[in-house]
Amino acid sequence: MERTGHISRVKKILSVLSGHTETPPPLWLMRQAGRYLPEYLELRAKAGSFLNLVYNPEMAAEVTLQPVRRYGMDAAILFSDILVVPQILGQHVEFTEGEGPKLGPLDINTLATDISKAKPVFETVRKVKAALPPECTLIGFAGSPFTIAAYMIEGGGSDTFDRTRDVSRANPAAFEKLIDKIISATLDYIEGQVDAGAEVIQLFDSHAAQANNFQRWVVEPTAALVMILKAKYPKLPIIGFPRGASTQGLQSYAIHTGVDCIGLDTNVNLEWAAANLPKRVALQGNLDPQLLIKGGDEMKAAIDAILKHAKTRPWIFNLGHGVDKQTSPDHVAALVKHVRSA
Ligand code: CP3
Repeated sequence: MERTGHISRVKKILSVLSGHTETPPPLWLMRQAGRYLPEYLELRAKAGSFLNLVYNPEMAAEVTLQPVRRYGMDAAILFSDILVVPQILGQHVEFTEGEGPKLGPLDINTLATDISKAKPVFETVRKVKAALPPECTLIGFAGSPFTIAAYMIEGGGSDTFDRTRDVSRANPAAFEKLIDKIISATLDYIEGQVDAGAEVIQLFDSHAAQANNFQRWVVEPTAALVMILKAKYPKLPIIGFPRGASTQGLQSYAIHTGVDCIGLDTNVNLEWAAANLPKRVALQGNLDPQLLIKGGDEMKAAIDAILKHAKTRPWIFNLGHGVDKQTSPDHVAALVKHVRSA
């Protein structure tokens, strides 16, 4: 990675993603906007439902900016959801209170992209971009093809994703067709975000660990997405988050997908990752969200252990998964202070 111009000195996240080691490392948190913040809960109540909030650009922009204002995060992450892509493809999606997402019946043959459904999300990106402080980077995102396929097949979340593995094993041609349609819709969804002002894209592969063939269903579809995006936007930095991948899986993901940065989940051993993942990729992570719930000295010691590695190569400080709704906002403030005092 090479040195870029003046913008990379102002925006620390972009600096890291172009190959520099920043000390202290820049930080943002997955799910930094959400139910642990009273100001989120207030707007969420006004909106009436989670999806009303996602598709209301004024409110979604405000929710995106809340953690940036409160904590001075180095990045804002667009407030939306990975399940917008099944909606764009024509599958029904709803969120039932306390139960998580529920998706309607799936007919792979009739899925077709209608990107106009995502217009309010692109409007949110425009609004956030216009309001962000100059040192703050705007991150857009999408789910990775495997994780989206898994939600579409299961009709929601699952502990085991057995049906997904069944379909991918018993009918790989149909699974591949589904993955291809998801790639195509995801490209439109990401291009809309980038054209509206997103500066970095994170691909969430939250259920990558459930794939029966990691290379074929996680690495290859991600590589295809990244290749097409890089052809259109050669300078767009892309962060991949293959949650639960094995060390062998992470190696392959780092080598073959073309992402600029890998998000490490809570269980990744940092001694191993810092020493063995190719130096071409930046790393992001990986404080256990549970330690953020606990706070105090245990959290600080775990942050220090991460910061030790963050000095040795380009690194973005983050959690190993999203902020839990039980988290105290004061603990997030303490985290930010501790990382910045490094
Ligand atoms: O602050 C941010 O990180 C930006 C917004 C964001 C949300 N979801 C908002 C949200 C992002 C980046 C996501 C990604 C997402 N969505 C993922 C990948 C990351 C991960 O957590 O593994 C996944 C798997 C989803 C699908 C999804 N959305 C589920 C399973 C749920 C229900 C579980 C839950 O926490 O309630 C959601 C709902 C959701 N997405 C909420 C938020 C703030 C909570 C909804 C509410 O306010 O009621």
